[in-house]
Amino acid sequence: MLQIQIINGPNLNILGKREPEIYGSETFEDYFYRLRKKYSEVSLHYFQSNHEGDIIDKLHEVGFSYHGIILNPAAYTHYSYAIADAIKAIETPVVEVHISDIQNREDFRKISVTSEHCIQQIYGKGLEGYEFALKELLLI
Ligand code: DQA
Repeated sequence: MLQIQIINGPNLNILGKREPEIYGSETFEDYFYRLRKKYSEVSLHYFQSNHEGDIIDKLHEVGFSYHGIILNPAAYTHYSYAIADAIKAIETPVVEVHISDIQNREDFRKISVTSEHCIQQIYGKGLEGYEFALKELLLI
């Protein structure tokens, strides 16, 4: 079975309660449950952390054996060269996802230092963006 890892960064553990007008009212756990059911032919894993180093550790852990990684680095997107380096260092292809439309919010969100090493960046599609990313990885 193909192994795919979803990694969510800081503040994404409170999806559903966090600024629902921007991020929606569904928890990630509920969305993940539906996604897993729909793609039962894939082994989907979910990890969330509010800590940069834990995200890097997870990238190292799965990044030489899994088929693909779907990563929402959250605010780290905009300044974490450490996460950018980790994406560059691993072999597994990474698709970057943002729930909100980062190109039409504050200026600092328009810059992604992590997307340079990703095969694709998806934003502004709500939680469905994770499914788009998964479909992309299944084409590889
Ligand atoms: C986000 C966008 C980031 O700018 C923000 O810091 C997040 C979530 C998104 O999914 O839209 O925490 O990555």
